[in-house]
Amino acid sequence: MRPPLRVAVLVSGRGSNLQALIAAQRSGTLPIEIVVVASDKPAAEGLRHARDAGIATVALDAAGRRDRAAFDAELFAKIAAFAPDLVVLAGFMRVLDAAVLTPWTGRIINIHPSLLPKYPGLHTHRRALQAGDAVHGASVHFVTAELDGGPVLACSEIAIEAGDDDAALAARLLPREHALLCRCVQWIAQGRITWQDGQLQVDGEPLTTPLHV
Ligand code: GRF
Repeated sequence: MRPPLRVAVLVSGRGSNLQALIAAQRSGTLPIEIVVVASDKPAAEGLRHARDAGIATVALDAAGRRDRAAFDAELFAKIAAFAPDLVVLAGFMRVLDAAVLTPWTGRIINIHPSLLPKYPGLHTHRRALQAGDAVHGASVHFVTAELDGGPVLACSEIAIEAGDDDAALAARLLPREHALLCRCVQWIAQGRITWQDGQLQVDGEPLTTPLHV
């Protein structure tokens, strides 16, 4: 048996994706150990969930910090001290400096509330509605220096329904995000996903199109 995957989770707010990971780990479906939860916002609710679960936390306030690269380097030095195998950005609302990402290439993922490559960045629900899309969803991708631009591992789709607004769409998508993130972390923890020079492999085969959850 392989040892549990050591996971660091980064949050900026509510932390419901973090809670889903904690619940899945506790239920025995996710062979991981969450070794640290870190945030750029000391008041993030996600940090409270981590403390309640007895998980180590790092809070480094980004407010008033002008040197973005220095802040990111400091944050990731603190995270690296916990020796994670995988870094999960789960509602972490910060564009990370390219230099800080380099050593983590292939070991850092993000959950994004759109069907990438559609709608990188903010206000994804609104943009999907304004475009008149019939489907919307969430994606888990490996993080590169390009915002929401790294290889997509998997996505989860929902239908856009008549009368949907931003809030309704976000609320309907959220449980799907939780399942998607847990499933992707499970595959990585099981050693099924590998990264080779920017190409994802699933069970030893190149991934040509995102998996569906
Ligand atoms: C999620 O919609 C996630 O996709 C996006 O930010 C939100 C975070 O939610 N990046 P939570 O903090 O996990 O509840």
